[in-house]
Amino acid sequence: MGPMNLGTASVRRIAAGETELVLDAARGSRPRILHWGTVLSETRDDELLLLSSRPWAHGGPDVAIPASFSNELGAGLAGPTGLLAHRDGRHWATCLTVESVEQDAPHRVRVVCSDPRAAVRVIYNLDIDTDSQVLSATSTLENTGDDDLAVDWCAALCLPLDSRLRTLRSFTGRWAGEFQPQDVPIFRGSFVRENRRGRTSHDSFPALIARADNTAEQSGPAAAFQLAWSGNHRLRVDGHNDGRTFVQMGELLLPGEMLLAPGERYTTPALIAAHSDAGLSHVSQRFHAHALRHAGGGRLHRKPRPVHYNTWEAVYFDHGEARLLELVDQAAAIGAERFVLDDGWFGSRRDETRGLGDWWVASERYPNGLDPIAQRLREHGMEFGLWFEPEMVNPDSDLFRAHPDWVLGVDALVQVPSRHQYVLDLTRPEVVDHLYERIAAIVEQYDVDYIKWDMNRDLHHPASDGHAAVHGQTRAVYGLMARLRERFPELEMESCASGGGRADFGVLRHADRVWLSDNNDAGDRQQIQRGASYVLPLAITGTHVGPRECHITRRVYSMAYRSATAIFGHMGLELDLSEETDADLDTLRRAIALHKRHRELIHGGRHVRLDTPDYLVAFGVVAQGAQSALFSCAKVAGHATTLPTELRLAGLEPQRHYRLRLIWPDDYAPITAPSLVETADLLGNGSVFSGEALMRHGIPLPLMHPDSCLVFHLAGTDTTSA
Ligand code: DGJ
Repeated sequence: MGPMNLGTASVRRIAAGETELVLDAARGSRPRILHWGTVLSETRDDELLLLSSRPWAHGGPDVAIPASFSNELGAGLAGPTGLLAHRDGRHWATCLTVESVEQDAPHRVRVVCSDPRAAVRVIYNLDIDTDSQVLSATSTLENTGDDDLAVDWCAALCLPLDSRLRTLRSFTGRWAGEFQPQDVPIFRGSFVRENRRGRTSHDSFPALIARADNTAEQSGPAAAFQLAWSGNHRLRVDGHNDGRTFVQMGELLLPGEMLLAPGERYTTPALIAAHSDAGLSHVSQRFHAHALRHAGGGRLHRKPRPVHYNTWEAVYFDHGEARLLELVDQAAAIGAERFVLDDGWFGSRRDETRGLGDWWVASERYPNGLDPIAQRLREHGMEFGLWFEPEMVNPDSDLFRAHPDWVLGVDALVQVPSRHQYVLDLTRPEVVDHLYERIAAIVEQYDVDYIKWDMNRDLHHPASDGHAAVHGQTRAVYGLMARLRERFPELEMESCASGGGRADFGVLRHADRVWLSDNNDAGDRQQIQRGASYVLPLAITGTHVGPRECHITRRVYSMAYRSATAIFGHMGLELDLSEETDADLDTLRRAIALHKRHRELIHGGRHVRLDTPDYLVAFGVVAQGAQSALFSCAKVAGHATTLPTELRLAGLEPQRHYRLRLIWPDDYAPITAPSLVETADLLGNGSVFSGEALMRHGIPLPLMHPDSCLVFHLAGTDTTSA
């Protein structure tokens, strides 16, 4: 018997660059994914169909049940479904078949499915970004029936996972300790992360990375997934006992939160997925490209990211015109380009307990308003940034006294106190209008260039009028940001939530920067920034030079180390400059100048993490085209050997030659000499090495003190001799 003759008209391919998604979407059948990954350019549709067939197995149903986009319960699949909806307890066993397929571009497709018995339609939008090659998937569930449809769970897509990818990395953390990777083997059963904090959260960042046993930073297969959403979420990876594994991500809906009236629709947040056959750094690069393209509505490339000065750790709530003017002058003198006036400039805000919500300038602190500060900033050619926490209110505030009913809360439950503040109910249009008017008035009055948008508590009782409201609240926050952006197209925004509690790709459609962590401890930051780099590009990751003695960990670091750590990101300063020695201020000035010299590369290059022993944190940024690069190597702990390991660089052209120099610390003092620093004149003219030698052989590192960092510069050259 020859092979079965399979009709291939139902096969759809969407592709961009090296990435392809192949679907089988025959009208009247359940749609399924045949392939997602590197383009299969030599493979015919009928081959793929044949190779995607599954045999019958003992102990199961009489026919093999294919997976589909939502693995609905009505199909008879035993594993966790991607869709849970019902009408008062009935019509829950949905089984979706294809109604139509629309493909208006080679990189995207819209698959419309329906189940007439359950009276639902689901529209899947699948799009491979032509730039970053990441797949974006959403599903839109429509109630086509005559009565209400309760939606309990709707994943954006059930994405089959390549069976080689056996280890899962998720990201957990806490305030001042964000983006901590944790690895688990993928097993039969379910890995589930549920976030019910009403914001993206510190402890469950909505991203997962899967890799094979032999995958490293620059080699091997890997796939990365994230949910572009700042509210509650559920991430799950289900290993079915038939050997298949699926990734699902979606919004975690609270009881009764999503009730669709006849004709109404619910669209999931987007699942963003990247794959690579060339290692973890490569999947991160794809996420980075996607974020850079879409962050802040795609405006990030318009101008270099200005170096910040942020007032928080310099003054906390101790505001006053004279002091702030002094800080403006100091910040300008050292090279800052944007001055961000943090918490404490408004209402009766003197500490955490009062004034939040009263968005007018505190007159006894600033009797002349903020004009003198704004004017001084303009004189220095600096931008003006202002802190807001729009979604919150202190009970001790004029706003709360006037509108005690404007907060989220459920039934008669007493609110859980958290940083002495309640959450405003942004699902009420009058609340959003009020916030919009207050913020817009201040932005307009002082010609504010930048808003640091903070959000400092979880939502414990997130209900409006008794109904769960995290979905509505999250959409309303996005809506308010979009409305401000529309009114002030040049206004930039930073997303902060007690540091990195809201740094997801959903808020990044509106924000231009994230405040990664309140922890400015350079050693901790090396780790936090490395964790964040799996997802976030350096151009939008806020990195600040903190005080000599870190306020959170009480560790003391050199200015050279603090600066080296902050150079690689959207750089800023957050310290009382008058507490630093002249020598340290000078070091800082030189570090800022170095950052400015190289920021086009730092913010536009390809980010490569290096595989190193745990006592090092090392990575590079390589210019597109690999003609130049910077590499950072921090020593974060001691080592058992007398000398550290060699550093194998990555991302270079093996045949190209590069002039290697050590550019930081610029006053480098050896512990023992000579090392390569002296023998190759790395502080002077440098020496020329092939990309191959630097990547395959590696650089013998000099002895380094713990808590120090070396920055190497590589410039492509036609010279091949040292
Ligand atoms: C938390 C933020 O993460 C800090 O940077 C600072 O803005 C404070 N809030 C102000 O209250």
